[in-house]
Amino acid sequence: MRVGVLTGGGDCPGLNAVIRAVTKSLIHHGQCEVLGIADGFEGLMGQQPRVQALDWEAVSGILHIGGTILGTSNTANPLKDAATLAQVQANVQALGLDVVVAIGGDGTMSLAHGVAQATGMQCIGVPKTIDNDIAYCERSFGFDTAVATATDALRRIESTANSHHRVMIVETMGRHAGWLALEAGLAGAADIILLPELDYDLQAIAQVCQAREQRQRYTIICMGEGAKQSGASQTVQARVETSPDPVRLGGVGHVLRQQLQPLINSEVRTTVLGHIQRGGDPTPYDRVLASRYGHKAAQLVLAGQFGQMVTLQNGQIGSVPIASVANTQRTVPLGHELLVMAQDIGISLGRSRSKQ
Ligand code: F6P
Repeated sequence: MRVGVLTGGGDCPGLNAVIRAVTKSLIHHGQCEVLGIADGFEGLMGQQPRVQALDWEAVSGILHIGGTILGTSNTANPLKDAATLAQVQANVQALGLDVVVAIGGDGTMSLAHGVAQATGMQCIGVPKTIDNDIAYCERSFGFDTAVATATDALRRIESTANSHHRVMIVETMGRHAGWLALEAGLAGAADIILLPELDYDLQAIAQVCQAREQRQRYTIICMGEGAKQSGASQTVQARVETSPDPVRLGGVGHVLRQQLQPLINSEVRTTVLGHIQRGGDPTPYDRVLASRYGHKAAQLVLAGQFGQMVTLQNGQIGSVPIASVANTQRTVPLGHELLVMAQDIGISLGRSRSKQ
């Protein structure tokens, strides 16, 4: 069998561990030849496909390295018009690919499903995202690393906040799901955690900061980039119209600083963590988890179970049809145990308790 492997969408720690595990498993167990496709679907969209042979040596020594040796793109859209789609189809045929393993987020899953539907290309999906928001996937690899990075940032911010008696806002990534802000906020001992799932009330936040001005004299707010005030819309940093998902979030931490400053005495400052959360070496947990995802993808290939995406449910690796995942999102449920626990230990979720 000839198997293509691509990484699409935003990168995340652990991608190389998946590439290594899927390639080595396929070489070990089957008569498989593996081709790495450059820069996600972009590598299949030109007149000359851009691929490299992945043998045992090519994927050795990459387990612990962040990013992706294949490169990625979050603007490549193989579905953008009929000519592009036809080119992708022709390239898949010319390369003799029996199946393409697409490692990516919800956007990549939608694209893989769309290309498969339109061209007959066989594919297998491996979910990735630091946002931890893919359906049927209780833990995405990359998330643990991002939580560790954001937690470290919060701990560093705390000592300077304490020294200067400031309110410090730390903005995490996470787009429409608050998992990253929630777990980093809990692990980093934030006083207020703001999530996209729960619109914030400015007065409630100001009250917590004012109360802390009297005693602790500093406050740490951890907020997801998709969080917003009740009745407002999300803070959009830019729109990239060529991208399958054109909205780039970011900057809500600065919006909150401007809103909050007139209401309290302490100085308010904002740190936007940005891509630091996507970079760096994967944690040991993510290396193992990513290897499990990659190994399962190889098993699906060898069993001919095409059209499936690897999943993790109740701690067990499994799979579901990609179609059931495309365009879905796993956000933080409002009654989630971590939210209840956060409030019970005195963390504000940015609303008066009766409204939460
Ligand atoms: O989906 C993963 C993610 O890291 C989001 O949390 C974030 O909004 C987005 O990617 C940023 O993407 P880009 O690299 O295009 O700015």
